[in-house]
Amino acid sequence: MYKVASIGGDGIGPEILATGIQVLDAAGEKFGFDIDWTDYDIGADRYLKTGELISEDELKELSGFPAIYFGAIGDERVKPGILEKGILLALRFYFDQYVNLRPIKLLKGVDTPLANKKPEDIDFVVVRENTEDFYVGIGARAKAGKQRDELSVVRDLYNVKFGIDVETDADELAYQIGVLSRQGSKRVMEYAFDLARSRDKKLTSVDKANVLTDVYGLWREVFEETAKGYPDVKTEYNFVDAVTMWFVKNPEWFDVVVTPNMFGDIITDLGAMIQGGLGLAPGGNINPKGTSMFEPIHGSAPKYKGKNVANPLATIWAGALLLDTLGEKEAADAIVSSIERSITSGSVTKDMGGSLSTSDVGDWIAKDVLNG
Ligand code: IPM
Ligand code: MN
Repeated sequence: MYKVASIGGDGIGPEILATGIQVLDAAGEKFGFDIDWTDYDIGADRYLKTGELISEDELKELSGFPAIYFGAIGDERVKPGILEKGILLALRFYFDQYVNLRPIKLLKGVDTPLANKKPEDIDFVVVRENTEDFYVGIGARAKAGKQRDELSVVRDLYNVKFGIDVETDADELAYQIGVLSRQGSKRVMEYAFDLARSRDKKLTSVDKANVLTDVYGLWREVFEETAKGYPDVKTEYNFVDAVTMWFVKNPEWFDVVVTPNMFGDIITDLGAMIQGGLGLAPGGNINPKGTSMFEPIHGSAPKYKGKNVANPLATIWAGALLLDTLGEKEAADAIVSSIERSITSGSVTKDMGGSLSTSDVGDWIAKDVLNG
């Protein structure tokens, strides 16, 4: 029996999550395990009603679960950043989910915008660091004439380097700091090396150490050190700008990619596109010794809310990652195979050229998992 928490969230979140839960339950029936679900009402509706995003008590309670299954977050009635930072990032940080695992895999029957690329060409995994870098939330913004204490970090730099007195001269300033730690880099790299070891034994580190020399200089140094413990894994470096070209031109070169948080955010949207779009891109936020969280990487698509038309495949696939992390590898693989069969048989939603509703796709895949 596995205890799993579910958070539907906003927009299409609850409906796509319901299909995911249905499929995971079917996998449990087929492979002989039960999931005990506990649902949490967290998201824009509650925030607008009560002003609360997520409570300390809820976080404590959630830490009793090995996994959280998450729908989507984002609502037009709430200023950008509030729900994202107050719920999604809060969960990732609170549970120290330092690995953001994002498979980039072209399933059979899916159209990719890359000419002449086939499923065997697009099959790699991005391991995105998930707790540091520009996501640490250290920054400030202030206007001239106002209290500028919060700008003390940049005061000297502006004075000495540019001759600008931030108290009086510049009319408005803002900065945001990216922070990496040796331990924070090392642990995610070890995860990536271990993963590469279980695959084709090739790991690409993506950074921008040629310009952001302090922060990504540290990243690169830790990568070189960590690599010494994995002599059987072939390593290489790419700068982030270059890697966006290679993802498009030669995706078959990649096996596992490890990268700091913000670059990981950006290159995985590109990755999602080459594997057929955001409707097919799952992600896991993993703390190997704690509470992990699984979600589609797309947003809440508010305009489709409640219409039963959204594509649930990314969420169902994220559910497979969840089962894999719980140790149910066979069930996880069976779900991905069923997703693939739903695509090759045209049993998909409109955005993928089919005519099924969200819940129809859930029914179809749940049944296929049971019969498969
Ligand atoms: C993602 C999203 C989030 C991120 C946002 C919604 C905070 O873009 O999961 O990729 O930047 O990590
Ligand atoms: Mn993103």
